[in-house]
Amino acid sequence: MAAKRRFQTVKGMRDLLLDEARRFAMVEQIARDAFRLYGFEELRTPLVEDTDLFVRGVGEGSEIVGKQMYTFDDKKGRSLTLRPEGTAPVARAYLQHDMASWPQPVKVFYMGPYFRYERPQAGRYRQFHQIGAEVIGDPGPYSDAELLAMLLRFLSKLLFDDLEVGLNSVGDPECRQRYCQRLREYLEPRRGELGADSQRRLETNPLRILDTKVPEERKLLEGAPRLRDSLGRAAREHFAVVCEQLERLGIAYRVDDRLVRGLDYYTRTVFEISSARLGAQNAILGGGRYDGLIGELGGPAVPGIGFAIGQDRLVELLSGGLTLVVPPVCVIPVGSHCREDALQLAEELRDAEVMAVAELASPRALKAALRKADRGGYDWIVLVGEDERAAGTAVLKSLYSGLQEAIPREGFAAAVKARMEPHE
Ligand code: HAM
Repeated sequence: MAAKRRFQTVKGMRDLLLDEARRFAMVEQIARDAFRLYGFEELRTPLVEDTDLFVRGVGEGSEIVGKQMYTFDDKKGRSLTLRPEGTAPVARAYLQHDMASWPQPVKVFYMGPYFRYERPQAGRYRQFHQIGAEVIGDPGPYSDAELLAMLLRFLSKLLFDDLEVGLNSVGDPECRQRYCQRLREYLEPRRGELGADSQRRLETNPLRILDTKVPEERKLLEGAPRLRDSLGRAAREHFAVVCEQLERLGIAYRVDDRLVRGLDYYTRTVFEISSARLGAQNAILGGGRYDGLIGELGGPAVPGIGFAIGQDRLVELLSGGLTLVVPPVCVIPVGSHCREDALQLAEELRDAEVMAVAELASPRALKAALRKADRGGYDWIVLVGEDERAAGTAVLKSLYSGLQEAIPREGFAAAVKARMEPHE
């Protein structure tokens, strides 16, 4: 007979266990608190959207849309996509719920799973998690600085001290067009020195060549025209105010002329924060302004700015080993008739906010139950057997001291709580 197949997670996707799941939850809690401090509200959008939302929003020329989307037809033949990012869905929600009629700017945050069909490697998954925020309806530049201040406040709560903030301006579409023209003129005669990817980008999106990792291409780019020199006056002034305000707020940053980001919707301010400890995949977050996105999606010309943190990478930086949190109390029935007493006692303990587990699976003899409890790492065990039931008591035993006492069932949980306190 053929062996039954043992299932595994799909490539590039993973289970979050123990400490990792706890760290995910902790980071989410800290993010919620930090973002609410600035007046942001949570927005939860569906995991699945119309494919065209991303094609139009993120851009046909982007890697995400070109190569990385999980796209499928539903039973009616509609093309749907598992969301690869969160900004286009937020912009869709802004339009769908007529948020333009709300007080502006609308400030939202979000967190959850996102999907990109990428080659999995350290810190890169096919289902990954983002924590993001968007400010829609304020052309900036003061809100650009405020958003970065919120981000750094959040990150400092997680005690990061080796982060690098990279900042740039990709200008308005006219500036970019001007720049792409200049860059093409510079690179075209040197086409042969570019790899296949960059040669393709020379046609589709020359700006992306700037963030190449290939050393020879980087060398070639040293003599290339600079994006900053193609910025128009309005974009230049915007960027100058952002920089000035960051300095006033005491936020250290580095202007990175090559920072262009991989999504097509960006205008003006763009930024990334990275940690040297993460190695090659070192951006823990990215973001920027997208003043044309809502218009691109058929809405009015409403500006926006936001960021998304790669939660998997963030949590990796916080990680140590995996440990189990053991509740301090284990309730053990002695003899099968007493399982209902154990179930009830454990519930009473939880009513009193005492973290407890009960051994309900199968009745054991006292000795075997004690041996198991000993190995379980508990501080206290509670025993209920026929004798205790008859006497209206339960036995509390400290696994530190070995001492035990019979306590009346009436008021039992409060009595346990009182005895636990000195250990806490
Ligand atoms: P993004 O740079 O594509 O931007 O993604 C933001 C962050 O998500 C990255 O810096 C990285 O930490 C994490 N990330 C991306 N792909 C993966 C992956 N395959 N595995 C693990 N982590 C990953 C955006 O998504 C924009 N929506 C950000 C934004 C919001 N811009 C304006 N508002």
